[in-house]
Amino acid sequence: MEEIKIQRATTLKPKPDFKTLGFGKVFSDHMFLMNYTAGQGWHDPRIVPYGPFTLEPSAMVFHYAQEVFEGLKAYRTADGRIQLFRPIDNARRLNDSCERLCIPAIDENLFVEAVKTLVAVDREWVPDQPGTSLYIRPFIIATDASLGVHASHTYLFCIITGPVGAYYAEGINPVRIYVEDDDVRAVKGGTGYTKCGGNYAASIRAGERAEKQGYAQVLWLDGVHRKYIEEVGSMNVMFKVGGKIITPQLTGSVLPGITRRSCLELLRDWGYAVEERLITAQELFDAADSGKLEEAWGTGTAAVISPIGEMGWEGRHVVVNGGEIGSLTHKLYDTLVGIQWGTEPDPYGWTIRL
Ligand code: COI
Repeated sequence: MEEIKIQRATTLKPKPDFKTLGFGKVFSDHMFLMNYTAGQGWHDPRIVPYGPFTLEPSAMVFHYAQEVFEGLKAYRTADGRIQLFRPIDNARRLNDSCERLCIPAIDENLFVEAVKTLVAVDREWVPDQPGTSLYIRPFIIATDASLGVHASHTYLFCIITGPVGAYYAEGINPVRIYVEDDDVRAVKGGTGYTKCGGNYAASIRAGERAEKQGYAQVLWLDGVHRKYIEEVGSMNVMFKVGGKIITPQLTGSVLPGITRRSCLELLRDWGYAVEERLITAQELFDAADSGKLEEAWGTGTAAVISPIGEMGWEGRHVVVNGGEIGSLTHKLYDTLVGIQWGTEPDPYGWTIRL
């Protein structure tokens, strides 16, 4: 593995108040960079001061969105140490995304090493307030100065970080979700299972419409039948119906969330019957109408565990668990957050200390 060179910033930025952090607005002092050149492979892994890039206006990423990204977090434990949550899973998923977007794979161990080294350099940026963490955003962009539609021959891999609080303004309070039946986010054979910027660009219009109606986010339906629920975009979704847990299966157009996988492992260990399968919006709203829909929540790195308190779809409107966070949602939140922040034991070996 090539050694990661470190160039430290000579002036450090003032840190924000860790008590009033939002999401994704503040960035730490350093970033990780590595280049890819065809014939040479990935080279020059380095940490440099955080700052703007210079790219050709013709760089392919600006035109054809050949880009992938990841999201993970570093957590400060009560004894002041720092830990990461399943970073190798992010490395693997990044490479799955790369394969779909024709971007050369990166060394997964180097990915983890780069994250660890960058977080160690900017360790003062890992916040210590309850519910806060250092969000880590790795991404790869195509940099060839070329307008032909083909795979780039050069790429830039970058990791930036920044201290964050809750993703939703609601925090741990339930969010309102709108089931979108017009726009679609992804289709089978497309890029839905990857984390590529284009998926998120396609989601913005429906998100804006939903926000105007007072909803926090959109719950996507599948792009072919327009009836099976898929994911929210910033999180996967799960439901407790008649004592059982149901969640959309990974059909190729749903993101294989790492928080999703962790929750399913916890739920199965706790003895719940868990079904990963096709779920229609009709089934969900009917379950709500008949009183069988007990709890609903989203799972994601940024969103953590986010209770869903209300859902709208085709003029129908349901309130879940009286608009309150359910007891299982709460238990999942407490357990996951406990493992991540090191206040609970981690029998699964999911956390890595720096
Ligand atoms: C994450 O949860 O890390 C994500 O990447 C979702 C994001 C679009 C905020």
